[in-house]
Amino acid sequence: MNILVTGAAGFIGSHTCVSLIEAGHTVVAFDNFYNSKKNVISKIGKLTGSSLRFYEADMTDTASLDKIFMENKIDCVIHFAGYKAVGESVRIPLSYYYNNVYGTLCLLESMKKHGVKRIIFSSSATVYGKPASLPIKEDFPLGGVTNPYGRTKLMIEDILRDLWISDNSWSIILLRYFNPVGAHESGLLCEDPNGIPNNITPRILDVLFGKEQYITVFGDDYDTKDGTGVRDYIHVCDLAEGHVKAVDYACTRNGVCAVNLGTGVGYSVFELIKAFEAASGKEIPYKICPRRAGDIDACYADPSKALELFGWKAERGISDMCRDAYNARVILEREGR
Ligand code: WQD
Repeated sequence: MNILVTGAAGFIGSHTCVSLIEAGHTVVAFDNFYNSKKNVISKIGKLTGSSLRFYEADMTDTASLDKIFMENKIDCVIHFAGYKAVGESVRIPLSYYYNNVYGTLCLLESMKKHGVKRIIFSSSATVYGKPASLPIKEDFPLGGVTNPYGRTKLMIEDILRDLWISDNSWSIILLRYFNPVGAHESGLLCEDPNGIPNNITPRILDVLFGKEQYITVFGDDYDTKDGTGVRDYIHVCDLAEGHVKAVDYACTRNGVCAVNLGTGVGYSVFELIKAFEAASGKEIPYKICPRRAGDIDACYADPSKALELFGWKAERGISDMCRDAYNARVILEREGR
């Protein structure tokens, strides 16, 4: 099938393009390179041995969107494009609402105009807020989101649910990611955010490669196994493969459904640091600091619905994630990132 991937040069988008092409799909892609590098597109081509039909475009530019849909017969859209840094969203909320929410409205209008009514949306476990219990199931209450980034994800989910109520011919899948980490085993694709990273993995790697002296551990007084925050880290390649399964599912039925993409296993910050020490063979200095505003104690998925609907479950463990993330950064540093 012909799949349009928005935000294709991003961390999850680029890995998903590789998996889609390997599964036999034709990928049309666009990105505005706000939080990604241009050379990622050629790396996707190098890994798959096929040329990607790529457009440098911004999703708020409706003329560019129409051009893409007029020049390509699209069967399904996978929508990754969006700003995703929690801290940044608190500083510049209007940019997040404009880009993420208005940009998605532009995309949906263009899809409707061109008769494309299948979309897989890159949502997030952040829409659950602070869960009342664990593991988290898809029918848990939504809301209690503590930052504009998370609120844009929830708003877009609500927009898509309302869209389906207005027109049942849409096929909409809301994929709620937990904490994507790791990198392609080749080391050619990895998480390489522009500017100061928000998430813990690139920050640990900055310590391992001498960019920072120590990792700040945001709180060791949470109600968890060792007092540090617990999260469901999932290998980005497992996540990418989950999208390929979701495309197959989206193309066989209409409707709107939310699906968790997680491993179902929670690791603490201390456990993650130890896993990176084992993967790198290096000690990682850390300093306990006050809690970060908006953080929750623990968050991990009940992944059973993805297995039931897609026949998908995560295969890679925390040591695979740390090994692949570390090896990819070695290559990136050699390239002079
Ligand atoms: C993980 C744990 C921190 C940095 C967010 C979004 C989610 C998804 C992933 C984008 C927490 C601790 C972190 C540091 C630390 N979106 N930490 N020191 O906040 O769980 O999820 O990013 O991809 O939608 O909500 O991810 O990596 O920031 O934090 O101790 O320097 O690591 O307190 O317990 P988070 P994170």
